[in-house]
Amino acid sequence: MSQYSISPTGEKFPLPEQEDYSREFERLEEVVKSQRAFGREIVLVMGLGFVGAVMAAVIADAKDEKGNPTKFVIGMQRPSTRSFWKIPLFNRGISPVSSEDPEVPLLIDRCVNEKKTLMATFIYDALKLADVVVVDVQCDYLKEALGNVLDGRADMEALEESLEIIGQHIRPEALILIETTVAPGTTEQVAYPIIKKMFRKRGIGKDPLIAHSFERVMPGKNYVSSIRDFWRVCSGVNEEATRRVAEFLSEVLNTEKFPLTVLDRPIESETAKIVENSFRATILAFLDEWSVFAEQNGVDLIKVINAIKVRPTHSNIIFPGPGIGGYCLPKDGGLGLWAYRHIHGFEDDIFKITPLAININDTRALHVAQLTRDALRNMGRPIASAEILVLGASYREDVGDTRYSGSELIVRRLTEMGAELRVHDPYVLHWWEFEKQDEYPASSRSLKRFFRGQEKLKDLRVGQDLKKAFQDTDAVILSVRHKHYMNLDPDEVVKNAGGPIAVIDCFGILEDENIRRYFELGCEVKGLGRGHVKRIKDQVREAKSQLPLNIPLQFAADKMGG
Ligand SMILES: NC(=O)c1ccc[n+]([C@@H]2O[C@H](COP(=O)([O-])OP(=O)(O)OC[C@H]3O[C@@H](n4cnc5c(N)ncnc54)[C@H](O)[C@@H]3O)[C@@H](O)[C@H]2O)c1
Repeated sequence: MSQYSISPTGEKFPLPEQEDYSREFERLEEVVKSQRAFGREIVLVMGLGFVGAVMAAVIADAKDEKGNPTKFVIGMQRPSTRSFWKIPLFNRGISPVSSEDPEVPLLIDRCVNEKKTLMATFIYDALKLADVVVVDVQCDYLKEALGNVLDGRADMEALEESLEIIGQHIRPEALILIETTVAPGTTEQVAYPIIKKMFRKRGIGKDPLIAHSFERVMPGKNYVSSIRDFWRVCSGVNEEATRRVAEFLSEVLNTEKFPLTVLDRPIESETAKIVENSFRATILAFLDEWSVFAEQNGVDLIKVINAIKVRPTHSNIIFPGPGIGGYCLPKDGGLGLWAYRHIHGFEDDIFKITPLAININDTRALHVAQLTRDALRNMGRPIASAEILVLGASYREDVGDTRYSGSELIVRRLTEMGAELRVHDPYVLHWWEFEKQDEYPASSRSLKRFFRGQEKLKDLRVGQDLKKAFQDTDAVILSVRHKHYMNLDPDEVVKNAGGPIAVIDCFGILEDENIRRYFELGCEVKGLGRGHVKRIKDQVREAKSQLPLNIPLQFAADKMGG
């Protein structure tokens, strides 16, 4: 019986049968022959995920001074039920990743359908045809506990498997460029031995050409330019690999404006990535304790941060919101800690700040559940029977990427506490972390394992109608700074909700005048790092107490100019 791979829009694609493999290779050989006749280099990108799909298109778009394409790109993706659909869609010119950057679909469509410099395949034999192989498969860090990154390990399975397959197939003179974020030491101490061993088995004496250059891609409005028009760091295992990788990146990226940094060894390029992201994770985590301090001492941390930011030396101080999601920041430091022990063999415990920062970031969102509980308690409503609306499922503003978002933890904790949750996000159609929680992000890896009573969350659907989402809700959690949530009118919110509600601001979204108005309307307001709301509440109460008793509340609020 045929097996199918189903795309996010529900289209069914049968997985390839045995005879499809040889047919596919013949097709590729033909195409590659004609592309070589144009003098184009053949590049294979392994892994058509968030990074690989767009990087493949950026390479396929490369041209010489006369505007002629210089590369032909084959995107390679495993034919699994989960991912095979990406290949037929890609070959139609449709991006397998959704993005807020309008250049992503245009670029893929142009390279596939007009320039004809880009296609996708499911066969590993395609590796035999490549001059350059770009590795964009995942390398995860698996955590066994919530809030303890030290209890975990790097999951190198996909990467090691990919490297073995590459070693079995590639031509000895092909360059292997690892873009995956890896545990520092991986290129020289994991990848190089794997490829070398495979070469030896195949009777190839040549030293493999392997290099590392990490991606700094940012999902969002500038997805493509965050790959193409951005600074890169690279290094190779030997002189030839270093020369080849610098040459390749200069041909496909805008290195004239954004010059390359070439480092001596791949471990330096790998470490640069891990330190870069650990630095960011740390400055975000650092504000967690000050956020609690602010809540307990009448301080608005948002205003404090804005006051500090004007100093040029402190301009990158950032408010952390309800935890730090995305694919990279929660895991990259873990890869560094793991490498120290498991690749380099050290026993001592040198890492203090990096794991602490990750642990703080991984659990920050739980505090939002406490604020929600307290706000509802002040209104005499038990959390266990409350209807709660979360505004925003993704991990940052104006993108649809939900990986490790703080909102997931908020939903899970509040569900555990008995609340009924609903969610709105204009950028997210399916929140797979819930809808497919038994298999996503992988079987038994869902965060649901750290909470009780999570089964019903399979039925959680992301609403697209904001007005409807508010109906009969007891509390609203402003979780992400999507532009749709920045200017909500308190009067409209309360009207749509059918009465006063609890409003929880996780990201400095509410202006003081709106906080005041919510209080005037009988709502309760709390926020991460927003200790000054208590002061506003007292002012509103004080003003109300001075009004003659017979003035109705709503009229009084209007009179106060709210
Ligand atoms: N997503 C980001 O924002 C971002 C930013 C910077 C760096 N990175 C790094 O880039 C790397 C890739 O990340 P991603 O977000 O694209 O991951 P992803 O999970 O979206 O994509 C990985 C892809 O590789 C495929 N794959 C795995 N094994 C394969 C094999 N043997 N053959 C062919 N395909 C295979 C998977 O099916 C998947 O499609 C990671 O190391 C990540 O840390 C990601």
